[in-house]
Amino acid sequence: MASDHFGLIKFLTLVMATSVSASEEAKALLIWKSSFKNQTLTSPLSSWTNTNTNSLCTSWFGVSCNSQGSIVRLNLTDIRIETDLRNFRFPSLSNLTFLDLSINNLSGPFPPQFEQLSKLNYLDMSRNNITGPIPSTIGNLKDLRFLNLQQNSLTGFIPPELGDLVSMVDLRLNQNKLTGPIPDSFGNLTNLEFLYLRRNNLSGQIPPSIANPLKLQVMQLDTNNFTGFLPEGICGGGKLQNLTLRGNRLHGPIPKSLRECKSLFRVRFEGNGFTGDISNVFGVYPHLNYIDLSHNKFHGEISGNWGESRKLGALIFSDNQITGTIPQEIWNMTQLNQLDLSSNNITGELPEDIRNLKRLVKLQLNGNQLSGRLPSGLGSLTDLDYLDLSSNRFSSEIPISLAFLSSLHHMNMSRNTLYEAIPIELTKLGQLSVLDLSENQLDGIIPSQISFLQSLEILDLSYNNLAGLIPTSFKEMHALRNVNISHNNLEGPVPHSLVFQNAPEETLEGNKRLCGNNIKQGLKPCSSSYFGNKRSSKVVVLSVLIPIVGVILICIRVATYLQRRKRLFREPTDSETGPRMFISKFPAKLSYDEIINATENFDAKYLTGAGGSGTVYKAKVQSMVLAVKKLHETMDDERATFMVQHGFLNEINTLAKIRHRNMVKLLGYCSHSLHSFLVYQYIEKGSLRKALAEDEVAKRLDWEKRINIVKGVAHAISYIHHDHSPPIVHCDISSGNILLDKDYEPKVSDFGSAKLLKKDASNWSVLGGTYGYMAPELAYSVNVTEKCDVYSFGVLTLEVIRGTHPSHLLSNEKIQLIDIQDSRLPSPSVHIKDQMSRIIEIAVSCLHIDPQSRPTMLQVSNTLL
Ligand SMILES: *[C@@H]1O[C@H](CO)[C@@H](O)[C@H](O)[C@H]1NC(C)=O
Ligand SMILES: *[C@@H]1O[C@H](CO)[C@@H](O)[C@H](O)[C@H]1NC(C)=O
Ligand SMILES: *[C@@H]1O[C@H](CO)[C@@H](O)[C@H](O)[C@H]1NC(C)=O
Ligand SMILES: *[C@@H]1O[C@H](CO)[C@@H](O)[C@H](O)[C@H]1NC(C)=O
Ligand SMILES: *[C@@H]1O[C@H](CO)[C@@H](O)[C@H](O)[C@H]1NC(C)=O
Ligand SMILES: *[C@@H]1O[C@H](CO)[C@@H](O)[C@H](O)[C@H]1NC(C)=O
Ligand SMILES: *[C@@H]1O[C@H](CO)[C@@H](O)[C@H](O)[C@H]1NC(C)=O
Ligand SMILES: *[C@@H]1O[C@H](CO)[C@@H](O)[C@H](O)[C@H]1NC(C)=O
Ligand SMILES: *[C@@H]1O[C@H](CO)[C@@H](O)[C@H](O)[C@H]1NC(C)=O
Ligand SMILES: *[C@@H]1O[C@H](CO)[C@@H](O)[C@H](O)[C@H]1NC(C)=O
Ligand SMILES: *[C@@H]1O[C@H](CO)[C@@H](O)[C@H](O)[C@H]1NC(C)=O
Repeated sequence: MASDHFGLIKFLTLVMATSVSASEEAKALLIWKSSFKNQTLTSPLSSWTNTNTNSLCTSWFGVSCNSQGSIVRLNLTDIRIETDLRNFRFPSLSNLTFLDLSINNLSGPFPPQFEQLSKLNYLDMSRNNITGPIPSTIGNLKDLRFLNLQQNSLTGFIPPELGDLVSMVDLRLNQNKLTGPIPDSFGNLTNLEFLYLRRNNLSGQIPPSIANPLKLQVMQLDTNNFTGFLPEGICGGGKLQNLTLRGNRLHGPIPKSLRECKSLFRVRFEGNGFTGDISNVFGVYPHLNYIDLSHNKFHGEISGNWGESRKLGALIFSDNQITGTIPQEIWNMTQLNQLDLSSNNITGELPEDIRNLKRLVKLQLNGNQLSGRLPSGLGSLTDLDYLDLSSNRFSSEIPISLAFLSSLHHMNMSRNTLYEAIPIELTKLGQLSVLDLSENQLDGIIPSQISFLQSLEILDLSYNNLAGLIPTSFKEMHALRNVNISHNNLEGPVPHSLVFQNAPEETLEGNKRLCGNNIKQGLKPCSSSYFGNKRSSKVVVLSVLIPIVGVILICIRVATYLQRRKRLFREPTDSETGPRMFISKFPAKLSYDEIINATENFDAKYLTGAGGSGTVYKAKVQSMVLAVKKLHETMDDERATFMVQHGFLNEINTLAKIRHRNMVKLLGYCSHSLHSFLVYQYIEKGSLRKALAEDEVAKRLDWEKRINIVKGVAHAISYIHHDHSPPIVHCDISSGNILLDKDYEPKVSDFGSAKLLKKDASNWSVLGGTYGYMAPELAYSVNVTEKCDVYSFGVLTLEVIRGTHPSHLLSNEKIQLIDIQDSRLPSPSVHIKDQMSRIIEIAVSCLHIDPQSRPTMLQVSNTLL
């Protein structure tokens, strides 16, 4: 009962008070509302009507009153008021403490009588289109604690009277067109915690009085026109967290006080003219999350102390004059997500420890003088989105581990000295949209699998030594809009894809043997041989290579792949060799005599194996280990002349140029009246057959290694079939011809019997396959195609899983993993089992009796990738 009674009295008081003062205030609001340009029936302000002024305090949108029924709060943010600010009738709203008119497209200047809202402590007029200056009378709003005028079109100077608002906690004038200096009177704002002045056209020095607001936490002064030195007291009372000075004309040294400013969280100094030795002006900051010092004039070396700022996520020092090496401590900053040291003068190598930075999203080290090998630890940075290592002196192959960077969008490795082929594994980077490998020394071919890069938009491979045909698979790259392959050794037709057909001449030029029918691209028309659809028309035989005899010395030399620029073959002098003929254009350093000396004239103690076509010796020459295969026969005069005339030597040369991670490299070939031999890369662990035969070794070849062997062999065969012009058929894939390196990585060997399939395939005659691996059609047909290798691959695959030759299983169409898995190994995990079942399925399809029904090695390789 009592509570009802009090409620009624309260209600009556409210009604009476409202009827006196509120009617004035309501009237004022209604007059103001009539100036709004775009109010519809559905607008929240439809609650403001003539007929219910009595309910001003209870049901008008955005209005709150005090107990006397006078308006104290007006919250009208973002309701499309859209009127000239001068229409605002405030005199009758003198009790207002809170006014929010943000996001309403208010226009016009501040009316000078604004000062009459003298009780305001919260004023938000942000994100409108208020013009003109901030009136100096704003200094009368003594209770203001929060003033937000950001994102308007205010002009003129900041009135010094703002400094009189000593209660001010949060002052935001950013994103206007204010000019002139920060008034010295800001030093009076001792309660200030937040100061936002960014994106105006303020100038002059930052006043030393800015040190007075001891509670200051955020100071955003960026994108103005401030000049001079930073005042010593910039850290204020030691509460400063965010200090943004970017895009001004500040210069000179960093004040010493900043070294001890432990509260710092976010520091942006970029784009000024700060100077000083970067190694000693900054300290250790326990809370620092982000620091950007780029585009200044800092010099000196990066301090290892940064490693102790354990919360630091972004370290951005680009475009300064930093020298020295990157300190080891940086590689321990596991929390880093952005490291940008680009455009400095940093030297040294990248350590494998870079793998610690697992959270890195952006890594920019471009434009320095970094050298040495690219660490394979880069492959551990699996969150990486942006990688720029361009314009350095890196000298290595592209690490295969980069294939793990599955989030990568942007990769720039241009302007280094990267060599070897583009690893096929890079084509796993399905997110990649920009790939720039230009201005390196990459060789080999452009793999057809490049079309897996379905997101790729920009591809620059210019200024390398890439050879062979441009893969036709380019036409499957639907996102590609920009490609540059100029200045390589590419040949053959430019693919019929839009990106190539629309490519300007300069993105194709410098490839002497490209052809096409787009006259604007400055290309010659293609001769018919490049357009033959039948693979057999491009096929070449090279079985003649084995029974070579000779008095003429023929040496084919290729540059070393083991050690770049260390030349393998030296041109023999007349006195060393007698008559000779040089086919290769590669300069040489390794002589016939050195091979003879290293093997002590083919002494049996260097013998490591023997095969159908020759015996193999291990030779150590100039600190390189080589495998030298001495051929059983030598070449007579007539034969040699014939070979030269028929361009066979060019074909040996072609074989010698094959580079694939899973192919043993043919480094050179020499024929002499006494000995003819082929020189290969030496592979440590010998043949797969041997490895599978020895229980101890076979046990070390676990399931993962075996799957890797199958994949590697598939990629290699796919490479010679599909990425090489003319295609090469190996014709003797067997476990005896697969060698294993120290990491059990497979290498397909024995080019001695590899055959380039000839243009006129009917000439094909002798074949040197290994029994048990030969495709059945070879028994009755002379029609040799790549499908023979596909068959042999099928046999080999089953052998790898079974541990022995699968002889009797070959005609079996339903092979189960459980029936054939090598019993010397523990049973595979579920994951591995899945993979192996799939591999067995592929192997069985390779064994199809009808060659046409077998998959191509490209298909196999793609399925296994
Ligand atoms: C008027 O307001 C409505 C919604 O309230 C909006 O869709 C329309 O774009 C506005 N018109 C103008 C000219 O701003
Ligand atoms: C102002 O009103 C909006 C809704 O229109 C609301 O989201 C906001 O929180 C209010 N502001 C304050 C400070 O009460
Ligand atoms: C302001 O509020 C006081 C009481 O708090 C009241 O007496 C006065 O009339 C109000 N002013 C206006 C203009 O409504
Ligand atoms: C703001 O108002 C002007 C005219 O007063 C109008 O042209 C403009 O479209 C409005 N802008 C927005 C974002 O509503
Ligand atoms: C701001 O006002 C000016 C002048 O009245 C007008 O030209 C401009 O379009 C307006 N800007 C916006 C975003 O409404
Ligand atoms: C406010 O700042 C001005 C200019 O720096 C100064 O002259 C004045 O004494 C200061 N007032 C107070 C109360 O500190
Ligand atoms: C900034 O102000 C200066 C004068 O202080 C003036 O010369 C310059 O044009 C202004 N710049 C912009 C972008 O308004
Ligand atoms: C900075 O100030 C100078 C001189 O007052 C002026 O020329 C320049 O345009 C200003 N820069 C900007 C970005 O406003
Ligand atoms: C400092 O800046 C960061 C990032 O913009 C922000 O998240 C943080 O809230 C700011 N600190 C303060 C005290 O405003
Ligand atoms: C970087 O070093 C090179 C030579 O070592 C020198 O020519 C160049 O001026 C240096 N650049 C800077 C920005 O220090
Ligand atoms: C990096 O961290 C490891 C492990 O925490 C530590 O042993 C090593 O000393 C650290 N190296 C540097 C240079 O800080």
